[in-house]
Amino acid sequence: MIASPTVDPTFDYQDYLVMGDGTCKGFVPPSHLTAFSPYRLYRFLTDLETILAEESDSIQRLQRIAPIVRTLLTSSDWLQLEYVNPSPKTGWGVKFLYREPKFPLTVQMVSWAPGQKSTIHNHATWGVVALISGEERNRFWQRTPTADQPHAIEAVGEQILVPGDIIGFVPDAIHQVEALGDEPTISFNLYGITTMSERYQFNPEAGTAKLF
Ligand SMILES: [Fe+2]
Repeated sequence: MIASPTVDPTFDYQDYLVMGDGTCKGFVPPSHLTAFSPYRLYRFLTDLETILAEESDSIQRLQRIAPIVRTLLTSSDWLQLEYVNPSPKTGWGVKFLYREPKFPLTVQMVSWAPGQKSTIHNHATWGVVALISGEERNRFWQRTPTADQPHAIEAVGEQILVPGDIIGFVPDAIHQVEALGDEPTISFNLYGITTMSERYQFNPEAGTAKLF
């Protein structure tokens, strides 16, 4: 049984940005004021489309997207209930909230069972994740290629996310998520269009990676 989502609009949330070298830094996003209340999903999608058209730099994009994600989640409560429980088989679950051919992003709710870990991977596109419920550890790596091991990586650090935190990833950021505590994590996820030839799962012990 998943506890009620716990984003509290009065809480002092943090925004993070994960770079290609695995560094994770906090940032203060510009405030996002909107005349529209509630800030509905279709307006959010329209604003996102505008940001993506105006801004080609991943970091600038992420810094503009984070505040509208927060506005959406604190304004449209219904979204926080739109998830599926983690599958007992895989330990995770995904519900697409928006996916349209040729639209430059998808909106997904992702859940992870307690104790589950993802693979170590990059997304080969920009991504923004807002934690809705539970507690999630994010670990980060940087590439340390050698002639023998072009996909070698080295751990750089980690960040624990609590409900309300938002984390943005540049396309070559490498991470792994782990659901901490004894309840599933639920997160709101945005991803751009994946470059499939650059999306890898990494094996740090072997110094190898495979496309997925
Ligand atoms: Fe990921």
